[in-house]
Amino acid sequence: MAVRVGVCGAAGRMGKTILEVCNDNEAVEVTAAIEYSGSPMLGLDAGEVAGIGKLNVNITDDIQSVADQVDVMIDFTLATSVSANIQKCVLAKCKMVIGTTGLTQSDHDLIKNASNKIAIVFAPNMSIGVNLCFKLLEIAAKVIGEDTDIEIIEAHHRHKKDAPSGTALHMGEVVANTIGRNLKECAVYGREGITGVRDKKTIGFETIRAGDIIGDHTVMFAADGERVEITHKASSRKTFANGAVRAAQWLSEKKSGLFDMQDVLDLK
Ligand SMILES: NC(=O)c1ccc[n+]([C@@H]2O[C@H](COP(=O)([O-])OP(=O)(O)OC[C@H]3O[C@@H](n4cnc5c(N)ncnc54)[C@H](OP(=O)(O)O)[C@@H]3O)[C@@H](O)[C@H]2O)c1
Repeated sequence: MAVRVGVCGAAGRMGKTILEVCNDNEAVEVTAAIEYSGSPMLGLDAGEVAGIGKLNVNITDDIQSVADQVDVMIDFTLATSVSANIQKCVLAKCKMVIGTTGLTQSDHDLIKNASNKIAIVFAPNMSIGVNLCFKLLEIAAKVIGEDTDIEIIEAHHRHKKDAPSGTALHMGEVVANTIGRNLKECAVYGREGITGVRDKKTIGFETIRAGDIIGDHTVMFAADGERVEITHKASSRKTFANGAVRAAQWLSEKKSGLFDMQDVLDLK
């Protein structure tokens, strides 16, 4: 039987791509589409909004009213919206795939607590290539992390509202954890003016926001005489949407617990 999927943020860039990917996948069926209260998209057919033809699923702002038709809710909305969506999904016992980034510590705590009651896949980047990079970063950090200057450079489209990207931060965490540093203590975000010489123990972040860049990430391990760079470039939002839909299918078998794409892709 097809996994019944709800899309939260259905009229957003990612939401529309997820609708398109679901439409091409017989193993899933879109049964609900959610937007925020007051959205001009409410009442419209989600498929028509996504440009893929009628789906016979009208966009609503009421998760509760559609929850019994949904096995897994996929949320790509705004950091400020996620906590309310999680609380509603917990009440409705609806599993969640959360791709929204820019979350606060209290959002992270809420996700952890919610995962005692519902199954959740939460990943700042759902692309398979990026998740492979997380594994490669672990290896690189183990071998050369202590002896190199580590910088993380990310680039995204001009509409992105949070910085650095959740993926860049997660890359930083993977590297920091591997070499026994605390990212909160060693991260440096952007540089300006007389910054002094570089402290070897820091991990630097640089952010570019320009044009229609879907998402580029490079982690640089620079030493005297050589440097290693691990780079991922996304050229289509479909890479994230494919990952999110794969996560929804994988999650349909789980009862509760907090998982990431490393679990979904069996990379642990
Ligand atoms: N994990 C990943 O692989 C991955 C990949 C790409 C993007 N992302 C993240 O996914 C999020 C969405 O990205 P995007 O580019 O699709 O942004 P977007 O185009 O702004 O889409 C967000 C959509 O959610 C809507 N929304 C806001 N509050 C809502 C609520 N309470 N309930 C339902 N819908 C609500 C927004 O409506 P309005 O525009 O009218 O406010 C908008 O249509 C961002 O945090 C982004 O960083 C994650």
